[in-house]
Amino acid sequence: MPDPIRVAVLTSSDRAAAGIYADKSGPALQTLVRRTLPAKIVATAILPDDHAKIAAQLCVWADGGEIDLILITGGTGFTPSDVTPEATREVIEKEAPGLAEAMRAASLRITPHAMLSRAVCGIRGLTLIVNLPGSPIAACENLQVIIPALPHAIALLRGDPPGAVGHAHTA
Ligand code: MTE
Repeated sequence: MPDPIRVAVLTSSDRAAAGIYADKSGPALQTLVRRTLPAKIVATAILPDDHAKIAAQLCVWADGGEIDLILITGGTGFTPSDVTPEATREVIEKEAPGLAEAMRAASLRITPHAMLSRAVCGIRGLTLIVNLPGSPIAACENLQVIIPALPHAIALLRGDPPGAVGHAHTA
C-alpha cells in the first residue's frame, strides 16, 4: 500500500478567522477527503483574507516536506478582500491550470456563478496547492471534480513508480 496522501486544509475568511462565525468549509472538505481519498489530514488553519499571511502559511506547509496537498477554501471571488489566487500565484513554482479549468467547467453545469471563481492551482516543491470557493457546498462540489486525478497527481509529484497509487479511471 502506498503512503496516504498528507493533506492540509486552509480556510481563508475574515469572519471565520475573527470568530464571527464557525468555519464550515474546512470541516466539510476534511470529511470529503477522508471519505474519498487514501489520505490523512495532517494540518488545518483558519486565516483572514490576508495576502501575506496566506502566502506565508502556504510556504511553511509546502517547504516543511510533510504535506502533499494543500486545499484552500475561500477568497477566490470578486470581492475586494479576495486575495487567495494572488497569494497562491506568488508562491507556486508551476501552475496546474487543468485542475482549475476542470473545476470551473464542471461547476458551470451547476451554476453560472462558477465563472466568478478565480481559483488557481499549482505546485511548490513537491506540494500541490488547490484553491476552492468559500461556501461549503461550492468547495466540495469543486473538490469532487478533481478527486479522481489526485492520487495520480501526488504519485507523480512523489516520483512513485507507475501503479504505486491507484490510477482512478472513470468508465
Ligand atoms: N462552484 C460551484 N460548484 N458551486 C457554487 O455554488 N459558487 C461560485 C463559484 N464557484 C459556486 C462555484 C461563486 S458564487 C463564487 S463568487 C466563486 O465560486 C468564488 O467563491 P469565493 O469567493 O467564496 O471563493
